[in-house]
Amino acid sequence: MTYLCALNELSPYQPKIIALSMQQSCIVVQTNQQVNVFLNQCPHAAARLNFDSDAITALDGYHLYCQLHGAQFDPQTGYCSRGPCQGQSLTQLPCQIIEQQLYLVD
Ligand code: FES
Repeated sequence: MTYLCALNELSPYQPKIIALSMQQSCIVVQTNQQVNVFLNQCPHAAARLNFDSDAITALDGYHLYCQLHGAQFDPQTGYCSRGPCQGQSLTQLPCQIIEQQLYLVD
């Protein structure tokens, strides 16, 4: 397992970008129901969502969005409801919470 962060570092609907390697990172987002981890890679052009800054919450305060082309993703499912990859989804990564710490399950 790979340690990602402590739960108290997360705020609802404020995604956190965490590096997994030199090339890849993940998006950790807490919703009212759960904590989700997605690969930080848009399904349409494989770009990371935070092209310009880590502020990847859409103006509606709910969806995640790609700063390059504006695709919007549901933070609970990763489903893209708007943009060039509409109907596709971010890749969800398995995670586990142990004693208030979030881990990626390898
Ligand atoms: S790379 Fe696909 S919407 Fe940005």
